[in-house]
Amino acid sequence: MDGLRLGVLASGRGSDLQSLLDAHGAGRIRSRVGVVVSDKADARALLRAREHDVPAEAIVPDATLLGADRRRHHEERVAKILAHYKVDLVVLAGYMRLLSPDFVGRFPNKIVNIHPALLPSFPGLHGQKQALDWGVRIAGCTTHFVDERTDHGPVLLQAAVAVDIGETEDSLSRRILELEHQILPRTIHLLEQGRVRVEGRRALVDPDESWTRRFPVIAGALYGQGY
Ligand code: GRF
Repeated sequence: MDGLRLGVLASGRGSDLQSLLDAHGAGRIRSRVGVVVSDKADARALLRAREHDVPAEAIVPDATLLGADRRRHHEERVAKILAHYKVDLVVLAGYMRLLSPDFVGRFPNKIVNIHPALLPSFPGLHGQKQALDWGVRIAGCTTHFVDERTDHGPVLLQAAVAVDIGETEDSLSRRILELEHQILPRTIHLLEQGRVRVEGRRALVDPDESWTRRFPVIAGALYGQGY
């Protein structure tokens, strides 16, 4: 099996994208990034893609259009690119735009998002800060299928760390990001092997040998079922 052709949507730095490029380079996943699309022309994610000879397209929303029209027009263009590159799975890797139900409906259980909090807690922006402000003792990240509601679809994988005394938003974000770079490629690995089945709002994983046995783990981190 050749793996999946991934279409990655990213708005910024692109370190989650990088984790996929690296995992493919290291032979941990067979799936490869077929195209990266950004809504920001200066996103570092685009540079990372080009450095790996991956097609990278900036599709910036048309400022002359308003509201729903702008979104429809923008999503139309993004969908065209994804179709052009024959993408099997869309990965939202720091994509700072909400997708319309219409767009999501075109890719049922074919869009994966990574979120820097343990969903369903702290959806939306700045999940790490929300968690700290709430005073939680455990924090982490989640990969999930995307449905019509923000950060809501079936959970795929989660990993967690204990919040340290004196933890700052920066330190916690850094620690969670390390976990993100592990669970995102592993999520793709499970999907490319057809090990995930969705029943209602639950994604059931038929596990193979755990990555905690095959690859280095972060001391003190908790890797949820499936990893
Ligand atoms: C990550 O924390 C991810 O969970 C969130 O946005 C951030 C993206 O980081 N959705 P990067 O652009 O991939 O470095």
